[in-house]
Amino acid sequence: MGAVLAVAATPAPDTVARSVSVQNNDPLIHFHGRWDPAPETWWGSTGFKLHVQDLSSLTLNLGNHTTSPTVQLGVSVNYGPFNTVNVSAGTNEIPLIVSSDETDDAKLPATSVVRINVPGWQDNRLELENIVLNPGAKLLPYTPSDIHFQFIGDSLSAGGQYLPQIVDQAWTFLTPENFKAEHLINAQPGIALSDIDAYGNVHGMSYQYFVTEDTQYYYTDYHNYTTPWNFARDQPPATHVVIHIGANDSGNNPSLTRPQTYLEFLSRLRTLYHTQPFFIFTPWGWPQPDGSISYYYPGQYETIVATRHALGDRNTFLVNTTGWVTLEDVFPGNMHPTVDGHIKIAGLFQEWLENWGLHPLSAWATPA
Ligand SMILES: *[C@@H]1O[C@H](CO)[C@@H](O)[C@H](O)[C@H]1NC(C)=O
Ligand SMILES: *[C@@H]1O[C@H](CO)[C@@H](O)[C@H](O)[C@H]1NC(C)=O
Ligand SMILES: *[C@@H]1O[C@H](CO)[C@@H](O)[C@H](O)[C@H]1NC(C)=O
Ligand SMILES: *[C@@H]1O[C@H](CO)[C@@H](O)[C@H](O)[C@H]1NC(C)=O
Ligand SMILES: *[C@@H]1O[C@H](CO)[C@@H](O)[C@H](O)[C@H]1NC(C)=O
Repeated sequence: MGAVLAVAATPAPDTVARSVSVQNNDPLIHFHGRWDPAPETWWGSTGFKLHVQDLSSLTLNLGNHTTSPTVQLGVSVNYGPFNTVNVSAGTNEIPLIVSSDETDDAKLPATSVVRINVPGWQDNRLELENIVLNPGAKLLPYTPSDIHFQFIGDSLSAGGQYLPQIVDQAWTFLTPENFKAEHLINAQPGIALSDIDAYGNVHGMSYQYFVTEDTQYYYTDYHNYTTPWNFARDQPPATHVVIHIGANDSGNNPSLTRPQTYLEFLSRLRTLYHTQPFFIFTPWGWPQPDGSISYYYPGQYETIVATRHALGDRNTFLVNTTGWVTLEDVFPGNMHPTVDGHIKIAGLFQEWLENWGLHPLSAWATPA
């Protein structure tokens, strides 16, 4: 008899506003970077983008492989600046802050674009269980930009260990932002190109680039292995490939035959990227306290590009970064670019690309 009363007191289901639960395999989530099947993130910059109608709240439910106690995220709403949000296993409401001077959630327009990534090169594991949106929200397709950069590098491309927002403040991240482009960044502090153990990286980039996991897999007890990366998952495929590597080969063993290692790496990349231009950075070097710059492998990057040309590959270009970075652009203790140094490098690379023939798009492909 009590049961009858209880039924009568329950509102009809149709009148209850229900939160919208988005499963972690929903095709309308635009994933980018290296996710494993769990799905968990590897490599700083990995994340996802959402295009949502009538958005007012966003919650991430995260699995217990999420970095403990917290993993740092970069969150941008409607192409505003990336803000840092620390999240943990369990339920996390994400503040939807459009501009950095707002303290409260702004009123969002009819449709919104939310971009989320893990900026860290370590402690960067996000295990996505599902996403919960406010009642009435509706996921729409996200249309990616026509320009899609792929960057490959070491600490000088990873934002180092030294920027508060890590890769989200690095030239590798700022360049795609400036061009209204998509980004893929595979950069690991201390990594060499040669497949050697360097500064805690058990493999070099000539191995690691082709697997799902970043080099921190080796320190992950439940996932101490690598799996081949399926490049067909990079959607859309990269349109421009940028490589800045060699500092940690130089730091480890100057006698390594780098042109050969580099040329083998480029040949393998060409099997994945048949027509995309390759941009080969010369080292900008290490600015010394007396104002001089210490360069490594002088002339070798020129040789690498000239060899590609001799092989018939005219679509490989030398980016001569000589003079781009001076003492005032780096932290004096470690010679890595500061936040302002990365902004300067992104500006110089943009100028270079514009001279080459690539120009920033006037608008993002998915309007907010
Ligand atoms: C982690 O999550 C899995 C799946 O939900 C569960 O089986 C496991 O017990 C959890 N482990 C811990 C340590 O909470
Ligand atoms: C995020 O966590 C890091 C430590 O892991 C801390 O330094 C930083 O201040 C936190 N940032 C925010 C916005 O909570
Ligand atoms: C990489 O190599 C350079 C020297 O070439 C060195 O200064 C730096 O400490 C190395 N390691 C890391 C983690 O950047
Ligand atoms: C990963 O495996 C290697 C041996 O292949 C071992 O030396 C290392 O300690 C393992 N790491 C962890 C975190 O278990
Ligand atoms: C790179 O630029 C520097 C400084 O402008 C110049 O001296 C050098 O010749 C250039 N190298 C190449 C290969 O163009």
